[in-house]
Amino acid sequence: MLKIIFKRRLFSKNMLFYDILGVKKQGENIWKEGIFMMWKEKYKIGVERIDEQHKELFKRLSNFIQIVQDDIPWKEKLDSVKETMAFMQQYVEYHFDDEEKYQKEINYPDIELHKEIHAKFKQEIYDYVQIFEQGEFTEEKVQEFSAKLMTWLIMHVGKMDQKIGEYVREKGE
Ligand SMILES: [Fe+2]
Repeated sequence: MLKIIFKRRLFSKNMLFYDILGVKKQGENIWKEGIFMMWKEKYKIGVERIDEQHKELFKRLSNFIQIVQDDIPWKEKLDSVKETMAFMQQYVEYHFDDEEKYQKEINYPDIELHKEIHAKFKQEIYDYVQIFEQGEFTEEKVQEFSAKLMTWLIMHVGKMDQKIGEYVREKGE
């Protein structure tokens, strides 16, 4: 039986999340934090609070992919898959809001375009949540969802968000 080790964490007064610290199978650790991590230092934009949030997203996505791809029966993974999806949905919302707030603070010129792209992605996540809520929680769909998240996150944080960092650096000179 698969056992997921959670740790409660409070983000803001209304948001409580559970970090996945590791996964154990019959007493033996089959996965521990740090074994599979998609975050790269080059994804940093140089703004600490945004970098921390991006890192959190990559960390959770790494855990998610690890769990989805593990060689264990699908029904044993389902709880952690559902938990991570709920986290993703909330955290993406929280992070996008904060990143947009930051862009406003610094008078970032591309804020409207950036907001549009965030909104489109939020909608995509919502569409998946709808599919899953209708009972279509199949392994194939979840794999598809995790692959989409991964591609989007690497492209967006690795390219588009980098421009925010560039703008901050240029302005500071
Ligand atoms: Fe962004």
